[in-house]
Amino acid sequence: MKKIVIAIDGYSACGKSSTAKAVAKSLDYLYLDSGAMYRAITLYFHQHYINLANPKAVENALADVHITFLHNPKIQENETYLNGMNVEDEIRKMYISEKVSETSALPQVRKALVEQQRKLGKKKGVVMDGRDIGTVVFPNAALKIFMIADFNVRVERRQRELLERNHLFNFDEVIENLKKRDFLDTTRKESPLRQAEDAYVIDTTHLTFAEQVDEILNLAIGKMIEEQSPKN
Ligand code: CDP
Repeated sequence: MKKIVIAIDGYSACGKSSTAKAVAKSLDYLYLDSGAMYRAITLYFHQHYINLANPKAVENALADVHITFLHNPKIQENETYLNGMNVEDEIRKMYISEKVSETSALPQVRKALVEQQRKLGKKKGVVMDGRDIGTVVFPNAALKIFMIADFNVRVERRQRELLERNHLFNFDEVIENLKKRDFLDTTRKESPLRQAEDAYVIDTTHLTFAEQVDEILNLAIGKMIEEQSPKN
């Protein structure tokens, strides 16, 4: 079967990353978490006191940021590295979630990351999740998914995830953070979060994890068969 690109976009805590990971595993595809890249840059800017209002400082900092994903055989998953340091856990903390949407709205940051994401996805056989994957990064992706879920369900899911990670947080802070990021991510000038016209909408509010994975796998197999047809 021809390999395809699967783009999964949507709001925070709709289940994008965990679903994308499982889909990639089933298809033996590469999973790429574009949000982790924006989070890693946010961590670097935080550690180096970069002033986001100073384009020269941002440009210089971006030249020093190297993000890679390395496979951890113990958990059978890729982890995010920033300049050689494993930052997989650090970038999920609330203080990064608080700052990431301001960082990701900067045109210079988006330009640098989109370029890198396109390179990573060049070989096809990729599942990438984020906010602008089907609209900007891979507008020709064979399969585009737009994931949604009720706000309260998203809040519960994010709180559970932070508890499992043993991260300190305040319950109301999670609500405020999701609201703030929904607003900033959908209203920014540069590549705002929006549903691509040809995306399939999956509402995960009442779906089990297995159901949402299966739904995407079925769509993916349909697209692979289409790609296989002689006119493609
Ligand atoms: O895990 P969660 O869904 O909360 O967020 P994420 O996927 O880790 O993304 C963190 C933030 O990075 C988002 O709120 C966006 O501001 C930004 N982002 C983006 O602008 N474009 C992407 N393709 C992915 C993430």
